[in-house]
Amino acid sequence: MKGRLIVSLDMTDSSQIKALVDNLGERVIYYKIGAVPFTFFGPEIIAYLKKHDKKIMLDLKYHDIPNTVARACDGAIRMDVDLITIHTSGGFSMLEEAVKAVLSGASKEGGEKPKLLGITVLTSIDEAYFNDLFGNVERTLAEQVIFLAQLARSAGLDGVVASPKEIIPIRQCCGDDFLIVTPGIRPADSGVMDDDQARVMTPGQAIKAGANYIVVGRPIVKAADPIAAVEAILKEMENGYREIA
Ligand code: C5P
Repeated sequence: MKGRLIVSLDMTDSSQIKALVDNLGERVIYYKIGAVPFTFFGPEIIAYLKKHDKKIMLDLKYHDIPNTVARACDGAIRMDVDLITIHTSGGFSMLEEAVKAVLSGASKEGGEKPKLLGITVLTSIDEAYFNDLFGNVERTLAEQVIFLAQLARSAGLDGVVASPKEIIPIRQCCGDDFLIVTPGIRPADSGVMDDDQARVMTPGQAIKAGANYIVVGRPIVKAADPIAAVEAILKEMENGYREIA
């Protein structure tokens, strides 16, 4: 299960990041570098993780004109990351150009092609906020997520990032080989965390519903004992998997 847990390093102190990665050791092999650590530390933090044989989800959620997003994807490939995120709401041409850039960049670099994931609707957004934001959209939030997942698939992306609540309908419409990566994960014993995630599930529920990877940040990085938090999450994932196996 540990290959399916991605720990989100939303931290602003590089010595704390290094201490955490060191402390978690072999228990965690996949880390997510998003806007926070990348803005603070740049590619250096990625090089550090690579040196320690970690896999990287580069979560910079590119959303711009097609040419700009394609060039940014080119840069991401040079850093040898494993997953790259772009916003599906950038539209079909933007998604298609990014797919082409990843394919041609990976063949030039000679390494393994990173997987390209589309962000659907952020997991901090609930139905009420969604209606406020896009008042005149006829689709519900769940329908919008499905619409964006289908758009991503038709443009050739490898998968999407979505809330665990939408795993089952995405799996139904996009098939078994489409990657589903879910943040918005809160372990069973964390109670209701006072934070910004709105559409949440436990690690076990997300794996049982069919997530390929789960992304967990604060429940691990802010835990009094991050090792115990990781071990409890891996156990919950294992139990969720056993229920479907
Ligand atoms: O701390 P927490 O477990 O909420 O971290 C979740 C991570 O996943 C954050 O880095 C956040 O930016 C990211 N994310 C998300 N919802 C998405 C896409 C990414 O929460 N739809």
